[in-house]
Amino acid sequence: MRFIGMSGTLPHLIDHIAMGVFDVFQILYSAVEREHEAAIATAAQKGAGIVIRGGAAKGAPTEGKQAGLQWERWRRAHLDDLPDGMTPMEFILRFTFTNPDLDTTIVGTINPAHLQTNLGILEQGPLPPDLYEEAKRRLAAAGSAPQAVDDRGCMGATRPIRCGPRSTDLTIKLVREVILGR
Ligand SMILES: NC(=O)c1ccc[n+]([C@@H]2O[C@H](COP(=O)([O-])OP(=O)(O)OC[C@H]3O[C@@H](n4cnc5c(N)ncnc54)[C@H](OP(=O)(O)O)[C@@H]3O)[C@@H](O)[C@H]2O)c1
Repeated sequence: MRFIGMSGTLPHLIDHIAMGVFDVFQILYSAVEREHEAAIATAAQKGAGIVIRGGAAKGAPTEGKQAGLQWERWRRAHLDDLPDGMTPMEFILRFTFTNPDLDTTIVGTINPAHLQTNLGILEQGPLPPDLYEEAKRRLAAAGSAPQAVDDRGCMGATRPIRCGPRSTDLTIKLVREVILGR
């Protein structure tokens, strides 16, 4: 075995990073779900690879998918004045891709036309810096902002996130005894 990866979420992700045994993390992140942004930066600074999931925001700004938290935040962020020709989906995908800490984003689709569109979008590269900064400001106002772990180990999230002991005993036991053989 060469590398060990972890798919984690807050609050446990903080402990997973601190353990220092994972080479790569798969983490939920998009413009409308920025809760893990700070944790992603921490993991990347410690040298871990970052695989983003959910980076297409479930397609939320497109017809037929306008539902749930992702759509609600998109609507509240009032990003209707995107540059000429930039679709909401282009913005969403390029926002994810602009995060300097990501290594790759695994966008889910069962539609070959979407796959083709998405590849074309990603070839456009990161968003212009002024658009990126302004968008982050509006998204934060709409409830999509990086989350820090407070001193009770709980999350001040805009939706319920389980609050409890941060220690992930089972994960530590699994990694130490089964994978690392200690
Ligand atoms: N813990 C884990 O290991 C874990 C948990 C969850 C997900 N995952 C993996 O992460 C990957 C992505 O996660 P996800 O599917 O939850 O989130 P996602 O990539 O943000 O969203 C996928 C949704 O976006 C839509 N979409 C993609 N491109 C589009 C476009 N150009 N226009 C309109 N809609 C578009 C797709 O619909 P269409 O099919 O219609 O294009 C699909 O419904 C998947 O490979 C999944 O298996 C892993």
